[in-house]
Amino acid sequence: MDFIIKELKSVNNPRSIHGIYPYRGKIAALDAEQILSQMPKGSIVLDPFCGSGTIVYEGLKYGLHTIGVDANPIAVTLSNGKIHIPLSFQEVKDEVDNLINKANALSEVPTAADYPTSLFHEKSLDEIMRMSVFYDEMSDYVKACFLGTIALTARGCNDYKWTSSTVGKNIEPKRYIPFYEKLQLKVKKHFLPIANDSTVYYEDSRNLDKIIKPNSVDFIFSSPPYFDCLDYTAYYARIIYDILGYERIQIRSRLIQNFENYKEDMKKVLDKLHKVLKPGGQVIFVVGDKKIHGKVINGAEYFQAISPFKRYSIMERSYSGTSSKVFDAINKTERKEQIVIWTK
Ligand SMILES: C[S@@+](CC[C@H](N)C(=O)[O-])C[C@H]1O[C@@H](n2cnc3c(N)ncnc32)[C@H](O)[C@@H]1O
Repeated sequence: MDFIIKELKSVNNPRSIHGIYPYRGKIAALDAEQILSQMPKGSIVLDPFCGSGTIVYEGLKYGLHTIGVDANPIAVTLSNGKIHIPLSFQEVKDEVDNLINKANALSEVPTAADYPTSLFHEKSLDEIMRMSVFYDEMSDYVKACFLGTIALTARGCNDYKWTSSTVGKNIEPKRYIPFYEKLQLKVKKHFLPIANDSTVYYEDSRNLDKIIKPNSVDFIFSSPPYFDCLDYTAYYARIIYDILGYERIQIRSRLIQNFENYKEDMKKVLDKLHKVLKPGGQVIFVVGDKKIHGKVINGAEYFQAISPFKRYSIMERSYSGTSSKVFDAINKTERKEQIVIWTK
């Protein structure tokens, strides 16, 4: 007898705060948790390249006081959004409903730049531009959801055909995505308030000593930027900078991600990390093998060579079930991820 499917229940991805926005190079929450859960409660944990705030948020679940720093304004907005969620959903709902009313009532809508104009359905972009007028007055959580909904809508307008490597590809005809409705759904989906014991700074980590006192941090835990692949100002970020009127080139020039200066810049950060860490404190850097000009560089060895820390250990693991694994299969490479631990 033929097999007949009688019923198909809809499936949902688990509710996670980190799905708020597709930030590039996010560390897996479970990987972060494995390490954070082993730190003594009450410890002060700094992530000097906090990105979308995975470590900052997950650390709170384990009673840690977390500090995040990033020089990309989108990263800071997302991190702040995750740690500043109001306790009452009604408050968020009212805020968003009010924003939609005000956006709809605008008689003049700001003109969008050419790049977003080429990517969105006209009607979806009109809703985004209307709402962007009120960006500065949004609460942190709604701001983060606003950015996430822009990314989602951009992908939707292009028929959901963008993959992580084809973001920005022009797919015609554009599909209308109701932006306001998507925002309403997003604020509901990621509404996972957590007791806040974090501070997030918009700063260049080479200047860390401007914001963090010497000998004040118990742990530093981070997945640092690398020199060969990810541009944190590209993809969805580029669309958002254009909508909010941020200068992409200026932001990019402050980020460590160029091969030429990488060693020198990272050395500056490591020296600052050494300064702010308490004696006996530890730095945990999630790094990995990188292929440069056909040669595989061991991330841990690379970092060890520029580190001011004398005491260190390295743990290594293979990728499994990640996009890195897929990358390796396609490129016939076999890279590993290393965790470097330095002790002051
Ligand atoms: C691998 S990502 C971190 C991702 C993060 N763990 C997460 O889960 O979202 C590296 C981050 O370093 C930031 N970055 C690059 N140069 C920086 C600098 N000079 N100061 C502070 N942050 C910087 C980038 O903006 C990016 O967010």
